[in-house]
Amino acid sequence: MLHMVREIRERGVEPNFDAFGAMVYYIDAFPERFHHPKEDRYLFRRLRSRCPQARALLDRLEEEHRIGAHKIRTLEQALARYQAGGDDEFPFFAAAVEDYADFHWKHMGAEEQEVLPLAKTHLTTDDWKAIDDAFLGHADPLVGMDSGAEFRGLFRRIVNLAPSPIGLGPESKNHSKK
Ligand SMILES: [Fe+2]
Ligand SMILES: [Fe+2]
Repeated sequence: MLHMVREIRERGVEPNFDAFGAMVYYIDAFPERFHHPKEDRYLFRRLRSRCPQARALLDRLEEEHRIGAHKIRTLEQALARYQAGGDDEFPFFAAAVEDYADFHWKHMGAEEQEVLPLAKTHLTTDDWKAIDDAFLGHADPLVGMDSGAEFRGLFRRIVNLAPSPIGLGPESKNHSKK
């Protein structure tokens, strides 16, 4: 999305709303509704009980999951406004994309650099087994479907829609600005 936003801003290419729509749908369906709840429920819960000093960090990251759920709604609305309202709405949409990407980049950084080292030190073999089962299992007990196949299908759709060099979709068209 950052790449596509930059192409619009710097090269005046026409927005590819099918690709933007598929990307927003994917991040809502996978990271927001699927991945983050699993972190809260399995990884963070087990780490909380094994490592009390991780509590403040995990509180912050769980709060960020809640904030992220609002940010994806903002992004979705900004995309709808851009699609309906045209060029005048582009700055709001671009800001929402950049804010979402920056927020989650930092969030993932904290998980990778702070949570995972603590998890490696404090979690037991049984903890990892339960966490692996939850994260690697393709069927989600809450949703009751083969989510793995559905997410792969969604991801493939994005790859096919997004322009090169990020995807296999048609070349971006130049957009004549008013
Ligand atoms: Fe997270
Ligand atoms: Fe994560």
